[in-house]
Amino acid sequence: MGLRIDKSVAITVLIVATLMVQVRCQRPKVINLGAVFTFDSVIGRAAKVALEAAVSDVNADTSLLQETELRLFVEDSSCNVFHGSFAAFEVLGKEVVAIIGPISSSIAHTLSDIAKGLKFPLVSFAATDPTLSALQFPFFLRTTPDDAHQMSALVELIDFHGWKEVISVYSDDELGRNGVSALDDELDKKRFRISYKVPLSLHADENSVTDALNRSKSLGPRVYILHFGPDPLLRIFTIAQKLKMMTREYVWLATDWLSVTLDSSLSGEDTFKRLEGVVGLRQYIPESIKMRQLKRNRSMNAYAFHAYDTVWMIAYGIEKMLNEGVKITFSHSKKLTHAQGHKLHLEKVKIFNRGEVLLEKLLKVNFTGLAGQVRFGSSGRNVTGCDYEIINVDRTGVHTVGFWSKNGGFSVGNITWPGGGSEKPRGWVIDSENPLKIVVPKRVSFVEFVTEDRNTSTHHIKGLCIDIFIEALKLLPYNVPYKFESFGDGHSSPNYSKIIQMVSDGVYDAAVGDITIVPTRSKLVDFSQPYASTGLVVVIPNVYDGTWIFLRPFTTQLWCVVLASFLCIGVVIWILEHRVNEDFRGPPRRQIITMIFFSFSTLFKRNHEDTISNLARLVMIFWLFLLMVLIASYKAEVSSILTVQQLPSAITGIDSLRASELPIGYQSGTFTFEYLTYSLGMARSRLVPLDSIEEYERALKLGPNALGGVAAIVDELPYIELFLAERTGFKIVGEPFMNRGWGFAFKRDSPLAIDMSTAILNLTETRKQKRILKKWLCKKSCGEKSDWNQPEPNQFHLKSFEGLYLFCVAITVSAFLVFVLRMIRQFVRYRRSERISLTPRASLSSSPTTTRLWGFMLGFVEFVDEKEEATRSDDDSNNNPSQVVELQGDSEVR
Ligand SMILES: *[C@@H]1O[C@H](CO)[C@@H](O)[C@H](O)[C@H]1NC(C)=O
Ligand SMILES: *[C@@H]1O[C@H](CO)[C@@H](O)[C@H](O)[C@H]1NC(C)=O
Ligand SMILES: *[C@@H]1O[C@H](CO)[C@@H](O)[C@H](O)[C@H]1NC(C)=O
Ligand SMILES: *[C@@H]1O[C@H](CO)[C@@H](O)[C@H](O)[C@H]1NC(C)=O
Ligand SMILES: *[C@@H]1O[C@H](CO)[C@@H](O)[C@H](O)[C@H]1NC(C)=O
Ligand SMILES: *[C@@H]1O[C@H](CO)[C@@H](O)[C@H](O)[C@H]1NC(C)=O
Ligand SMILES: *[C@@H]1O[C@H](CO)[C@@H](O)[C@H](O)[C@H]1NC(C)=O
Ligand SMILES: *[C@@H]1O[C@H](CO)[C@@H](O)[C@H](O)[C@H]1NC(C)=O
Repeated sequence: MGLRIDKSVAITVLIVATLMVQVRCQRPKVINLGAVFTFDSVIGRAAKVALEAAVSDVNADTSLLQETELRLFVEDSSCNVFHGSFAAFEVLGKEVVAIIGPISSSIAHTLSDIAKGLKFPLVSFAATDPTLSALQFPFFLRTTPDDAHQMSALVELIDFHGWKEVISVYSDDELGRNGVSALDDELDKKRFRISYKVPLSLHADENSVTDALNRSKSLGPRVYILHFGPDPLLRIFTIAQKLKMMTREYVWLATDWLSVTLDSSLSGEDTFKRLEGVVGLRQYIPESIKMRQLKRNRSMNAYAFHAYDTVWMIAYGIEKMLNEGVKITFSHSKKLTHAQGHKLHLEKVKIFNRGEVLLEKLLKVNFTGLAGQVRFGSSGRNVTGCDYEIINVDRTGVHTVGFWSKNGGFSVGNITWPGGGSEKPRGWVIDSENPLKIVVPKRVSFVEFVTEDRNTSTHHIKGLCIDIFIEALKLLPYNVPYKFESFGDGHSSPNYSKIIQMVSDGVYDAAVGDITIVPTRSKLVDFSQPYASTGLVVVIPNVYDGTWIFLRPFTTQLWCVVLASFLCIGVVIWILEHRVNEDFRGPPRRQIITMIFFSFSTLFKRNHEDTISNLARLVMIFWLFLLMVLIASYKAEVSSILTVQQLPSAITGIDSLRASELPIGYQSGTFTFEYLTYSLGMARSRLVPLDSIEEYERALKLGPNALGGVAAIVDELPYIELFLAERTGFKIVGEPFMNRGWGFAFKRDSPLAIDMSTAILNLTETRKQKRILKKWLCKKSCGEKSDWNQPEPNQFHLKSFEGLYLFCVAITVSAFLVFVLRMIRQFVRYRRSERISLTPRASLSSSPTTTRLWGFMLGFVEFVDEKEEATRSDDDSNNNPSQVVELQGDSEVR
């Protein structure tokens, strides 16, 4: 071609050439290239056409390899490593400078070993196994990006849709395994993971594929990543359809094998129907004239374009090598001559001597090919990657719905998902055969929060936390089958760290209960948003502020009785004394005042008035005795309140508690222990585990000096509120600290944690949560939280003085009766004497009995009201009136 030039020019060129550029004359007429790949494959069919086209295009190109013809020897590697190796030796026998191929990554592994041994470049256009880039294979090059590249595109797609766990289905060979391993690495960067791997044998029969897919169905994730070589039959989708896995909740993502398959075959409506909703990647190759020419052959695909570029790349490499004057020589390889395989006649194979040089030139190639820029990165032997289109199959065909660029651009539009919907599948489900296994703490105290009903027949788990969990579940847009399992021995509080550990270890999927969100725990599991806020508080025995402390020793009832008895005593003494004692006489107002003052002044034995009648004195003796006992008890109690209980009030919060050396109680099993020891640095010996409300009360009552007693309890607010509602005499001091919340714990990266958080946030806005709180926590005390209604544990009750009171009342009543009887006797006598001295009242005798009785009663009352001397003057005049006067004077003197 280059020889058809003007003669004069030719002569000039010849002279110059012979003198200076001898090299050019030594250009060989023919340079052979080998190609080894599977002819009968989706890629192979197209690649063959592309390779042949490329060779003829290179030979036709006037600027490249002018005097040299490129010849291509192709050999079918079939689809296995044996055939591949033989085919390679077959083409090596043709004195080739480099080999193109293979397609299969497994064959590529073997051939690159041979290439390494015999030192010839092996350039593949379709073996995408990422591990082939390893330093182990220095003579292996490829013109197509490796799978790691498309995996990062896939992961971006996964991330975009918010899926966290995927199931990978792949061919169990180098391509599949290493591709999935690259996927794993990419997922790992985003903390996503492959939760299940389904390796399929290349030649697996339908049943084993069905079984493998069916097994994966019972797992949670519904995002399937398909990675294998092109499969013209698209068998996997047929099987998935049979298993009803091409439905709404499933996601099928395919690497570029799917686009290659679809592009290379005639797909009808039937195929599209079967593949509806599948999303895949397709290498983005800009349209060009050459491409359209090639595409006239219907089986073209991206890898065929890479094959086309490969030939050009090698041509550029050879051109550069020839330009540098490298001679194309071949020789028998010693390695092959000494090989044991004489029967294979490998010794005849001649190997290109300057393979290393060619490799070096190839790595420096930089040109724009059909499929984009062909240039090897500075870092290694992998070609700079390409961009990907995101394709989506619906009933009408294959559509491009998005784009992923290696430079970081990503966009995706409306996607039709399996089942024909456009709503993004959630990507995971909880199978009803595999319900969510939830562990709940089997509380023994504060069972309002959560516990297992100790009902022998039915294991029923209930509590505040359970109700909130169930309410939150109702807000989720999907159904979550679950089953509860309780944890704990039923005698002591369960170990909450253990519960979290078990969720982290995968024994359970989640934990529901009064679980505080603390950093050590959120390292192990994912928490939902807190549904209740808590904080640690310090509880100490209550010390009343001085204002009402004097009322405290007695119960209200007892105070009332004491007050009433003062009044009664006043009345009784007045009645008994009224007749004989001048002090108790006078105008009614004065009498009432005297009466009240008298009774109250008995308290201090400072009564102005003395009792005269024996009956009154008797009553007074017992009353004073009762009073003495009451006062003594009161004094003792007041002093105990003021002395013993004043002591712990030095604790005003966690800081003073920390500074002290007093023993502290905590709820066993909770994080409080770790917090107090690790974070606050308190000595373990100071901490006393407590299990129930009763133990709380007992330990606090015992006080810091007794064995098992504590000066204060540190626990979370909700428990303490419940404790204070049930027991009085204790109080919270200081501010709550370590403000945290209670949340539900889920296995790491569980998608449920996020949805549950949304639901909980929603729930807290509604009245439902308040209703639940009220239902569980307000059974006893909400609303009427008054310390005075409940008897103080160390108060005196009426019962304590009942006997004494009864005795006193008996004496008083009998004294009163004696008095009344005596009065009646005196009255009768007085009436008789009066009737004798006065004219009988006829009107009185003639009136009706009731009136007469009334008159009699009035007379009696009048008689009783009168002073004794007045009634006595007639029948008992020797009674000395001086006594009264004397007494009166006496009292005035005092
Ligand atoms: C090329 O391959 C090397 C080694 O295998 C790898 O570290 C590097 O990330 C790859 N570069 C690209 C652009 O794929
Ligand atoms: C799939 O597995 C389930 C049990 O997990 C079984 O009942 C069903 O028959 C299996 N389906 C097929 C097609 O094997
Ligand atoms: C496509 O390529 C195949 C294989 O080389 C060939 O048999 C077929 O005729 C070609 N078809 C067209 C339309 O060029
Ligand atoms: C490769 O070629 C392009 C233009 O074709 C050029 O812009 C680029 O800098 C070249 N790269 C290297 C590494 O030479
Ligand atoms: C996606 O769908 C919405 C509504 O169905 C439509 O408004 C929008 O144009 C669509 N976007 C694309 C890129 O097709
Ligand atoms: C046990 O369960 C039954 C039915 O759920 C209930 O009626 C009964 O009160 C429960 N007993 C106890 C001790 O909780
Ligand atoms: C609770 O469980 C954790 C983790 O299993 C363990 O380290 C800790 O010692 C346990 N605590 C008690 C008090 O048993
Ligand atoms: C909260 O619930 C209401 C009604 O139940 C619903 O309309 C709303 O979308 C929910 N919000 C969130 C953030 O889930």
